[in-house]
Amino acid sequence: MLSKAFPLFIGKPTIELEHIDSTNVYAAELVSTGNPSEGTVIYAHHQTQGIGQFGREWSTEEGKNITLSIILKPTFIPALYQYDLTKLAALAVAQWLENYIDKEIYIKWPNDIYVERKKIGGILIQNILSKNVLQYSIIGIGINVNQQHFDSSIPNPTSFLLETNKEYDLIDLRSHLYSNVEQNYLLAKRKGHDQLTEAYLERLFQLNEYKPYILNGNQEVMATIRNVERQGKLVLERNGGISSYSLNEVKHVI
Ligand code: BTN
Repeated sequence: MLSKAFPLFIGKPTIELEHIDSTNVYAAELVSTGNPSEGTVIYAHHQTQGIGQFGREWSTEEGKNITLSIILKPTFIPALYQYDLTKLAALAVAQWLENYIDKEIYIKWPNDIYVERKKIGGILIQNILSKNVLQYSIIGIGINVNQQHFDSSIPNPTSFLLETNKEYDLIDLRSHLYSNVEQNYLLAKRKGHDQLTEAYLERLFQLNEYKPYILNGNQEVMATIRNVERQGKLVLERNGGISSYSLNEVKHVI
């Protein structure tokens, strides 16, 4: 649902940049050199050295997509539960997409955003810890919107345009995205973790489906995703047993 009451603080201010290497890097500099207010967004019309998961490049065509970073101060989340932020952010993006694209939207663990079996966006979170709490979190979000052609090295990309045959106003889209992130963030603050988890699992790609995965970089196995632990590990059932895996230990076969 698109709510008019939000956003209250996300996007206030929005620092809008024509060109920047990476909005996450810019946000990290702001955090280390000053005290940006909670909700500050760094929005780039073009990223020249966008960063994806595992240090991969996140490259997108100029002026066609959403590339932004939101600075939050989630001091209410213990460091141990920092995966809560991944969960609420991925869920917010998925819920936001459901307003525009009338197809199955999934969260591919931990935080890839899929339309059916294609990737429309991703999230890169950097947390700044102080003692055992999250002092700052930088939520980097990249979504393919009006881009039609992708480099052949990108495995299975899609965009709003490819899925709906329409072009979108990026400014309008981004303000609705801020609302969704903010609502989930405030829900987490009100101890709505169980509700967020339920909604996250409802959208989890391949939950309860028997599918191939690669374990530890080389072992292809058939397994079923059963859950995601509070600390973010993926719970797989295989050969009648249950084990949990961290990000570098398991990979989907797409
Ligand atoms: C992924 O690999 O799926 C995560 C991609 C995250 C890309 C976004 S774009 C805005 C922000 N700035 C970056 O350099 N990366 C993130």
